[in-house]
Amino acid sequence: MTKFHTVVRNGTVATATEVMRCDIGIRDGRVVALAEELEAGEVEIDAAGKLVLPGGVDSHCHIEQESSGGVMTADDFYSGTVSAAFGGTTCIIPFAAQMKGQTLREVVEKYHDRAGPKAVIDYGFHLIIADPTPEVMGQELPALIEDGITSFKVYMTYDALKLDDYQMLTVLNEARRLGALVMVHAENHDVIRWLSEKLLDAGHRAPKYHAVAHARIAEGEATSRAIQLSRLMDTPMLIVHVSAEEATTAIRNAQTQGLKIYGETCPQYLFLTAKDLDRDGLDGAMFCCSPPPRDEAAQEAIWLGLKNGTFQVFSSDHAPYRFDETAKLKHGPNAHFKQIANGVPGIELRLPLLFSEGVGKGRLSLQEFVALTATNAAKLYGLFPRKGTIAVGADADIVIWDPDREVTVSYDLLHDRVGYTPYEGKQLKGWPETVLSRGRIVVRDGALNAERGSGNFLRCDKSEAAHPTGNLEPEIDPSRNWGFQIQ
Ligand code: URP
Ligand code: ZN
Ligand code: ZN
Repeated sequence: MTKFHTVVRNGTVATATEVMRCDIGIRDGRVVALAEELEAGEVEIDAAGKLVLPGGVDSHCHIEQESSGGVMTADDFYSGTVSAAFGGTTCIIPFAAQMKGQTLREVVEKYHDRAGPKAVIDYGFHLIIADPTPEVMGQELPALIEDGITSFKVYMTYDALKLDDYQMLTVLNEARRLGALVMVHAENHDVIRWLSEKLLDAGHRAPKYHAVAHARIAEGEATSRAIQLSRLMDTPMLIVHVSAEEATTAIRNAQTQGLKIYGETCPQYLFLTAKDLDRDGLDGAMFCCSPPPRDEAAQEAIWLGLKNGTFQVFSSDHAPYRFDETAKLKHGPNAHFKQIANGVPGIELRLPLLFSEGVGKGRLSLQEFVALTATNAAKLYGLFPRKGTIAVGADADIVIWDPDREVTVSYDLLHDRVGYTPYEGKQLKGWPETVLSRGRIVVRDGALNAERGSGNFLRCDKSEAAHPTGNLEPEIDPSRNWGFQIQ
């Protein structure tokens, strides 16, 4: 019997910290050896001239999830994970989304039932908490955290999801106690509501007005407010899908002050602008997401935030709603911008876009690319070092990239079920060629080789990222009886 089941040979291996020429030995789904030259395995993969990177970890995607307006995503856990795998992602953390009135237990069971029989790569879950009742926070959440769902998202906008500041404090207080990481969708609800009403009153109904209503000031204000709430409670927080300078600067300033504020951004804020929403008829609806894409200056601010460490995570926020009457056009051909399901697809192109425009154009090093697309998310959400790196003992989630392959993006190349890509026609250089998930070759030569349901549920640990700093504001006097333990 050979020592290795699989050997990936002759490649240039990159992690978040190193780039090295070495072979990788794989057995029982894990990396068991890294060396200049390994003996033969049962399966040999020649990676000469190729880059060998950890599989991507996409820690923000909406799969088989109903929107707050009741629209189902086009991708279920089969098509969503197949599409992810073809794009070089080997682990996803989508959402198990609570609607008001639902118990978290029933929500999580439902998402396990959806994912278990279909996923082809490994997955964890974040919760979305829309109804933070005492029972949800005091009883259900602690049990789910013990079951490996250690992060949750809350919304400061959307009628059906939004929490007020009082509820945010309740949630932050519990997260601190339980060691969970809080993800925040930060946009000022009333600013958006007010602007939307005025726009609609004036007859401005087209998709492009979505970008006007979701003003960057609304995002900046809510981000700053969320940070202050986090600071008051000394609860770490990750601001998701940041689109513009205002929010980026607020996060950067908080980090400079030593606060544990993390930032995430997504492809739509690097490669789309508000002009994409300004197309004939309802075509701009294909680009409606929240926050919306902004302008070229905002794109530059987001690139800078990726480079200087303001953002730790580059995720897709894949929210695949078809451009037809089942989803984006559910309200018919005369729909106004408030009636369009929010979200854009991106799970398959997340890595190729950032590789081509980031690494290929010299904006990011290979190590930074790996950190932003895999390692940091695995660390933040308690999956490291099992996921997000190539190291002895880690799961053999490995992607072999052809750095020279040139591709013109066309929806026909992709494997999701959304029916369009916002990046149609874009020229990219660098493409994920062969994808291994726990040592199984799941994608090779453009073909899938993975059974439905072969992906495993991942229990996330509580992460160091969620530990409080211990720096409480002087006003929060522990001797006061506020009904909660401060230290
Ligand atoms: O527009 C977006 N991003 N839709 C998906 C839901 C969310 O808020 O992440
Ligand atoms: Zn969001
Ligand atoms: Zn999202």
